[in-house]
Amino acid sequence: MAVVKANAYGHGAVEISRSLIRQGIARLAVVSLDEGIALRQAGITVPIVVLGPLFPNQIDDLFANRLTPVISDVAIIPALAERAATLLAPYSIHLKIETGMGRLGLATDESIDLLVMRKLPSCLHLEGLMTHFADADGESNNQTHHQLTIFTRVLTTLAAHDIKVPLIHAANSGGAVRFPDAQFSLVRPGIMLYGYHTLPKTAAAPDLKPVLTLKTCIAQLRTVPVGGTVSYNATFVAKRTTRVAILPIGYADGYNRHLSNRGEVLVQGRRAKVIGLVCMDMVMVDVTDIPGVAVGDDVILIGSQGEDEITATDLAAWTGTIPYDILCSIGPRVPRLYRNA
Ligand SMILES: Cc1ncc(COP(=O)(O)O)c(C=O)c1O
Repeated sequence: MAVVKANAYGHGAVEISRSLIRQGIARLAVVSLDEGIALRQAGITVPIVVLGPLFPNQIDDLFANRLTPVISDVAIIPALAERAATLLAPYSIHLKIETGMGRLGLATDESIDLLVMRKLPSCLHLEGLMTHFADADGESNNQTHHQLTIFTRVLTTLAAHDIKVPLIHAANSGGAVRFPDAQFSLVRPGIMLYGYHTLPKTAAAPDLKPVLTLKTCIAQLRTVPVGGTVSYNATFVAKRTTRVAILPIGYADGYNRHLSNRGEVLVQGRRAKVIGLVCMDMVMVDVTDIPGVAVGDDVILIGSQGEDEITATDLAAWTGTIPYDILCSIGPRVPRLYRNA
């Protein structure tokens, strides 16, 4: 079950979903109802699981778009059942059990009570049972093992009462790679589909290749004399005569403002440093040491050029975040172009 929430981690949910389906992925996961509806409106027909919370006023749209809800709170069940009872066949749902993430989900005894006591209305079909790991990419295995123990205990109780659930799933990318016991019948990878991971150095990581390149071009070149300043609040003061390239991309496009005076880009295969504050729509870089730079030259913000590469993990390190955040921050104004689409 490929996780394509947050616009497929910034890559573009519709095209990524189509590509994954072409490669044999049979089921998608999003977080919000709107994300699921957008995929349906694009003509995507595979099962789509909505991982996030469901509100009573969303039930009509959920059914109209044949989206599979994850039930994290028993309070929604009566309203779902009322709608499902009007259909000829039971409506598929997944149930989420909270085992240590401290987020959405039923407590284990609540889930056992619901299922073992047969309190789930028959118009709802329990297609899936899931949990979510908090620390699959952590240094230690302890918390994941603990969560797995709790989850497995629920599964064993259900099996003892002859309750069969077709789809059992727990593992995100890190979980799927690091904990074979957590693979069950489905895994829910997100970040690794896009070529990144946040596993610790002690864990064996698969050989991944980043999917996305973020690039722009040089819009203008100017020479700033010694003492001249660049961008808002004059945080960059030229100590030498500086050749500055102006790039038409800014924090509104997801090029984080914390990259001000810190980030690096590739121009003609060479590193150029961000100078001054990143603006909403523009960023300036120092190309003094790169001869022959011209307006229109490609500039790589994430990706490789020549022998060098800048990854979302690099940007994350420069800004104190994780590659997830870098990728899914790439704004709607940035055109997505797909090879082999
Ligand atoms: C419930 C759930 N499953 C799976 C994933 C995918 O996680 P990852 O991108 O780490 O593979 C996420 C993402 O946060 C999630 O919230």
